[in-house]
Amino acid sequence: MKEPQRLLFVCLGNICRSPAAEGVFLHQLAQEGLESAFLVDSAGTGGWHQGQPADARMRAAAARRGIHLPSRARQIEIADLHRFDRILTMDDDNLAAVQELARGIEHGARIEPITRYCTPLGVREVPDPYYGGDRGFEQVLDLLEHACAGLLDQLRSQAEP
Ligand code: 4NP
Repeated sequence: MKEPQRLLFVCLGNICRSPAAEGVFLHQLAQEGLESAFLVDSAGTGGWHQGQPADARMRAAAARRGIHLPSRARQIEIADLHRFDRILTMDDDNLAAVQELARGIEHGARIEPITRYCTPLGVREVPDPYYGGDRGFEQVLDLLEHACAGLLDQLRSQAEP
């Protein structure tokens, strides 16, 4: 049996976007029967919400699409650079913060923006919905559904012999 691919989704607080990315990706894996091929987690570049479930607005928006968000917030740490094969960031600030954490460290993780996988929509960042209205949470989920589907397609095609 092959080793699972290990993915970490990262945003600022780990209560809105990265828990949503984790839940959307897990949901798509379940639909394809691929849960055992991946190990999925999320983290924040900040640690203010340590231990908290995803934001209630984000959980409600996800639940309306049949998506469960299982995460408890935690802050990214150096060990994550060694634990995960890929680290997928939500915006430019998250990307810069993870790159800074990784500076000077030899590690095996590929660090990249998740929007790389949602080219049909032509976006560079998943916008932070925390201080906005309900529409922002829906927009995050729309983007993440595209991005996670693109990511999964790519990872599957790479895994094929
Ligand atoms: P997230 O959103 O990075 O998508 O989890 C935020 C959550 C909390 C805060 C900012 C963004 N905050 O300032 O507490």
